[in-house]
Parts: sequence; structure tokens; C-alpha cells
Amino acid sequence: MADQYAQSGEDKRSTGIPAIRWEEPPEGPVLVLLDQTRLPAEEVERICTDASALVEAIRSLAVRGAPLLGIAGAYGVALAATRGFDVDEAATALAGARPTAVNLSLGVGRARAAYVAALAGGGDPAQGARAALAAARQLHREDAEASTRMAGHGLALLDELLPGGGHRVLTHCNTGALVSGGEGTAFAVALAAHRAGRLRRLWVDETRPLLQGARLTAYEAARSGMAYTLLTDNAAGSLFSAGEVDAVLIGADRIAADGSVANKVGSYPLAVLARYHHVPFIVVAPVTTLDPDTPSGASIEVEQRPGFEVTELAAPQVPVTGAGGGMPVAPLGTQAYNPAFDVTPPELVTAIVTEEGVVSPVTAEGLAELRAGHAR
Ligand code: MRU
Repeated sequence: MADQYAQSGEDKRSTGIPAIRWEEPPEGPVLVLLDQTRLPAEEVERICTDASALVEAIRSLAVRGAPLLGIAGAYGVALAATRGFDVDEAATALAGARPTAVNLSLGVGRARAAYVAALAGGGDPAQGARAALAAARQLHREDAEASTRMAGHGLALLDELLPGGGHRVLTHCNTGALVSGGEGTAFAVALAAHRAGRLRRLWVDETRPLLQGARLTAYEAARSGMAYTLLTDNAAGSLFSAGEVDAVLIGADRIAADGSVANKVGSYPLAVLARYHHVPFIVVAPVTTLDPDTPSGASIEVEQRPGFEVTELAAPQVPVTGAGGGMPVAPLGTQAYNPAFDVTPPELVTAIVTEEGVVSPVTAEGLAELRAGHAR
């Protein structure tokens, strides 16, 4: 097992194993995922040999986070094509596995379009499969490059907004190498600040109910050697009121045309707190997360997850188990409200940082201009 608790400043990796990789053993191609449900206790890989295994991995959050969902979706189509499954059926199942992150359907769509174009050009299914795999690999590479560029733009913005340096940044959910072909989105900016000696502390929201902050962001922060502190989501208000937060950095699952930002549930309350306390609220996301076809926040579909994620703690080693297999923390039969995401309106967002630059103030026109520049 890798040294996932390493705190050394020398160790600059934020994960020990890539979040996703394509392999071609003699038995046939597979998609290998770092199973994020098992972190930080153990670094275990999950091997997908078909699209339905990948759909299950996506639904259970073994693979997760908007940019990585796009990459996974594209490889999933390539997997179906290479192994001779029905590509349309696989693409439909993969794109529908989770509804909120626009990257998933975009990644699936890109690989499927490459497959279809190869066939339309007279290619056979094997050529179609190679085209789908090439599209997945390209998306993977592009995301890594986007991550590096977002980190640069984000750090420059932090330095501009907070000229004193010594940034104390609050983040929510998980946005590092575990969600990306590179070092991530918001976390990549914090990492760049850390490497430049300008990150005083990363405040990490635990991110109930599935604890992506505690399990994954703290894991990545520890590996990177940065100063970080974990807090319950409920403690964020007291941290702001104590004047301990200089900026909020979060990622996004979908950004509507008007600049509304869907991200992990609990992001919107942070935006409200940030506005009250005059703290910049910065969203970091690749252009693939901008969705011009969704006009506003009201049209974003927010995934609703099973109530047992709230009424139970996932603890398979605990003998008393509830309906979801975890330890009950509420009376049996308790109903739970469990949206996976919330939507922050553009007027609460100080800036959106992408690989193509920064949009601030956040307006439909500013986002359209950025997208047009990207397309050129
Ligand atoms: O439900 P998850 O864990 O997939 O949610 C992930 C998030 O909300 C991330 O903040 C978002 O995908 C941005 S990741 C760059």
C-alpha cells in the first residue's frame, strides 16, 4: 500500500495512483479506477471490463468529480466499442448514470461521435473503436493541460485579490488529482499557492454526507505536504466570523449560461457566508463544465441521492447495519433530504476561473465571450 499519510514537503504528488487508466492485458482492454469509496483507508483499484461495471462505479462514486466523469464516460464508450458491445446502448447508460455534471455526457458524446464518424467514413468497428479510444485519450490529455492552466490563472487571481500573500483558503468537496487528468480544479490552485509558498492554510470542509472533503481532500492535502485543517461543514460560519478565511475556492459540476454554478451541496451556503463577510468566492472549472444549453440555475437537474446516505454512516465493519448497510444515526424509517448538489447564483460568485482565463464579474456575456475564444 502506498504511503497515503505522508506529510513530507518533499512529496509533491497528491495521490499515489492515477484516478483512471486504460490498460490492454492479453484478456482484453480494461478501465482501471482508483476506488474512491475506499480512500483514505486503502488504495484499491477497481477493474471495469464493460460499460455496466463503469455505470455502477459512477453511481457508487468509486469514480467521481465532474472532469473525471467526462474522461471516464469517454473511456467507457471506447471500452464498449473495443469489446464489441452495443455502443449506442452503452453511451446512453453511461451518459445517464448521474445527471448533474455536464462533463459526463460531453465525454460520452465525444467518444461516441468519433466512433460514428469513423464508421461513416467507411471504417469497420475496430477502426471505430480505435477512434473512440483516441477521443478519450485526447480528452484525458486536454483535461490535464486545462488543469495546469487553471492553476496558473487561479493563483494570479488570488495574488491580485489578496496582495498580502499568506492565503487562507476554504474549500468544499474534492477537486484535486482524484477528479482530473491533471492536478484538478480548485485544489490545483491551492496546490500552486502552496508550491509558491503563498498558501498559509487550506481549510477543508468535511462535506457531509459522503465526506469527500474529509476522506479525499484531506488525503490529497496530506500527501502534498500543505498546511490543512479539517472542519465540519457546520463550523464554516464560525471560521468566517473569526476572520480566518481569505478566499473560498470550489469546483463546479455544471455552469449554466447565466453563470449559475451547480456544485456539491453546501457550496451555496458558503457563497452566502462569503458575501456577508466580503470574502471572494471563486469557482474553478474547465471550459468543458460550461453548459451554454442550460440557460439558468433553475434548469439544472440536481441529483437526489438515497436517504440512507444521511441516516446511516457507511461503516461496513460495524456489526449493526441499516438499510444501506451502514451504522444507523437516525431512528429507523427516518426520511432524509439528500440532494447531491446545490446551485449558487452568479451574483454571489466573484469569479469563474477556466483554462482560457477568468470571467469576473460573472455574466452571461462574459461566459459567452470566453467560450467563443475557446472555440477559435
Ligand atoms: O458527488 P461528487 O463527489 O461527484 O461531487 C463532486 C463535486 O461536487 C466537485 O466539487 C465537482 O465535481 C467539481 S470537481 C472539479
